[in-house]
Amino acid sequence: MALMAISLQYLLHISTIFLISGALTLAQDETQFTYNGFRGSINKLHVDGLATILPNGLLQMTNYSMRNTSHAFYPHPVIFKPKHLSFSTTFAFAMYPQVPNHSGHGIVFVISPSTNFKHALSSIYLGLVNTTSDGLSSNHIFAVELDTIQTREFGDIDDSHVGIDVNSLRSIDAASSSYYSDKEGVNKTLLLNSGKPMQIWIEYDEAQMLANVTLAPLGHPKPSKCLLSKHIDLSTILLDSMYVGFSSSTGKVSNSHYILGWSWSQSGKAKDLDLSKLPSLPRIKHKKLSSNKLVFVLLLSVVLLLLLVIAGVFWFTWRKKYEELHESWEKEYAPHRLSYKDLFVATKGFKESELLGVGGFGKVYKGVLPSTGAQVAVKQISHDSNQGMKEFVAEISCMRRLRHRNLVQLLGYCRRKGELLLVYDYMPNGSLDKLLFDKFEKSNLCWSSRFNIIKGVASALLYLHEEWEQVVLHRDVKASNVLLDAEMNARLGDFGLAKLYDHSIDPRTTHVVGTIGYIAPEISTTRKPTTSTDVFSFGMFLLEVGCGRRPTGKQDGEEGAEALFLSDWVYNCWKRGEILKASDPRMEGDYVEYEMELILKLGLLCLNPIAEGRPTMQQVVQILTGNASLPDLPSEYNPETSPFWGGLCNIDSMPSSFPSSSGTSSLGVMSSINSVLHYGR
Ligand SMILES: *[C@@H]1O[C@H](CO)[C@@H](O)[C@H](O)[C@H]1NC(C)=O
Ligand SMILES: *[C@@H]1O[C@H](CO)[C@@H](O)[C@H](O)[C@H]1NC(C)=O
Ligand SMILES: *[C@@H]1O[C@H](CO)[C@@H](O)[C@H](O)[C@H]1NC(C)=O
Ligand SMILES: *[C@@H]1O[C@H](CO)[C@@H](O)[C@H](O)[C@H]1NC(C)=O
Ligand SMILES: *[C@@H]1O[C@H](CO)[C@@H](O)[C@H](O)[C@H]1NC(C)=O
Ligand SMILES: *[C@@H]1O[C@H](CO)[C@@H](O)[C@H](O)[C@H]1NC(C)=O
Repeated sequence: MALMAISLQYLLHISTIFLISGALTLAQDETQFTYNGFRGSINKLHVDGLATILPNGLLQMTNYSMRNTSHAFYPHPVIFKPKHLSFSTTFAFAMYPQVPNHSGHGIVFVISPSTNFKHALSSIYLGLVNTTSDGLSSNHIFAVELDTIQTREFGDIDDSHVGIDVNSLRSIDAASSSYYSDKEGVNKTLLLNSGKPMQIWIEYDEAQMLANVTLAPLGHPKPSKCLLSKHIDLSTILLDSMYVGFSSSTGKVSNSHYILGWSWSQSGKAKDLDLSKLPSLPRIKHKKLSSNKLVFVLLLSVVLLLLLVIAGVFWFTWRKKYEELHESWEKEYAPHRLSYKDLFVATKGFKESELLGVGGFGKVYKGVLPSTGAQVAVKQISHDSNQGMKEFVAEISCMRRLRHRNLVQLLGYCRRKGELLLVYDYMPNGSLDKLLFDKFEKSNLCWSSRFNIIKGVASALLYLHEEWEQVVLHRDVKASNVLLDAEMNARLGDFGLAKLYDHSIDPRTTHVVGTIGYIAPEISTTRKPTTSTDVFSFGMFLLEVGCGRRPTGKQDGEEGAEALFLSDWVYNCWKRGEILKASDPRMEGDYVEYEMELILKLGLLCLNPIAEGRPTMQQVVQILTGNASLPDLPSEYNPETSPFWGGLCNIDSMPSSFPSSSGTSSLGVMSSINSVLHYGR
């Protein structure tokens, strides 16, 4: 770079001729020069040892060679006497340690009678003297040392100091390297071997006999206060003609020492260095920083790797957490699908506190869909086999289209490995059996709301059996599958699980789907659910609501173990002509007698052990709405043709393994069963 080129401006030998009183006096020589870098000045400097001028003009005094010296001198002698003892000089330098905080000696500005330092030693002797010559007045050396080692035998004050030396390395004055900041009004420490470029000014005034030394970071203006100011008579030290320059040494530990520029004057202030023209220092590549860098890079990569691993683990668990099962045949049902992540968020991660109930098929959680804010109930069903899943999902999508104000609306589904999730409208008032048996309050279930619930369920069943495009069997009508919305309207719960169960059980044993007590007797032989078996279950439901009792178990007010079944008990009450005695005692007679009698009798009619004797849902609704009269109940059933009324069908043939955990269920968690039979109508 041409700009970096050093303008070596030295005005040499300004010869001035003085004419005094007509007498001719000889010329007095003053030396003045400025090196803004040393490019092209290889012949203009006298160098030895390690000293070399780099291509960019940087004067390298030492490299990392150990225990060696170097010198660089202005090649011409400088005349000091008799009249030019005053001088002003400044130079810019930098010291790079090889090992952090370990330094290899220093740089010395030196005025010496000769440029021959063959006998001088390295290390602590700074390339100036040797063991015997140190301190000899015959040395005629004036020096300013920039010392980075504390040498106790020379009384060094610390390991980064500036000292004024005369003939000896024992300084006559020294100070820790620092500078006065005019802006802040304080002294600031400068670490000599920090690798940062610095500038130093050395001035001597002959009249005052005062030597001043001032240090500052390169680029900083010369501080107003000097670091060292020492009275000294140089007239006894300096000879007429001397050499000016630098000496430098390395020791056991080495530094790279650089001089960037140098200016000298014997008449007035030395010319300022032109900072823009100074050569640039080598990129910091000494060990301190490179090892730091290495550690940094290593640390960074370790941290990055760790982050990557953590991110990977997170990603993997995230994937695992929200993983769903998708199959190609499912594409057409995509609109009915909800994402597992949404359901996870909706139920707060299927938290225990959101649990609404537990049943045979799985758990039901309350949730709020993040997308719509709708309250939903999420049924989580575990299943092991994927068998029949296709048909089942087809049915789910069918169920979704069922719309009736007395049905719980199915909103969608989601599938994971071994897990199926069905999402329904949330019913704030829970299931009827809870109200009926667990937390009964008269005001909650007054007769008119019971009657209303019954009519609602009948209406829903009629819709399923006759009014929709296909015949849909519910297969598990009972109080626990009747849910109540905010207005206490009955909503028949829960679709499609019977089919799932049908498919996932052992095909060699045919289990009956339903709940004991609600299963029509012919099922045990035909194993075929029909609308008529639903009517049977509905009959049991009527007795449940009317009597406020469960279908099986000992009934209050009856002694003996015979009265195991609600149906028998009500039938017997009827036969004795006192059917109203079967009504829920908690109502304390607070009901419409005609309606109560209607419900109980209709219940018994639906519970007819002979399927053909039961009414259809159409007839049931007509009777309930008063559009048809109640037929007479048969007074006897032939026990040969039907083992009913005297004890339910053989309990042992019932699948005890079937999820019929009545009582613990809510919101239709139970084995609520229905199935779309493609009867076509
Ligand atoms: C230092 O410089 C000298 C002379 O220029 C050279 O011989 C030596 O190899 C250099 N050493 C290092 C460590 O750079
Ligand atoms: C110092 O360096 C010079 C030049 O590289 C070499 O010739 C000399 O042997 C070295 N001296 C010592 C003491 O290593
Ligand atoms: C080097 O010394 C300075 C000043 O004494 C200190 O602040 C710094 O931490 C040291 N660095 C190392 C790497 O020891
Ligand atoms: C020390 O240096 C002087 C010259 O300055 C020389 O005469 C003397 O022999 C040297 N002594 C040793 C021990 O090298
Ligand atoms: C700054 O340092 C100089 C020389 O070491 C000293 O004389 C002076 O008192 C110091 N000034 C302050 C403000 O510390
Ligand atoms: C040296 O510094 C003193 C005050 O610190 C000042 O009076 C004197 O002029 C300075 N001398 C030179 C040559 O700068």
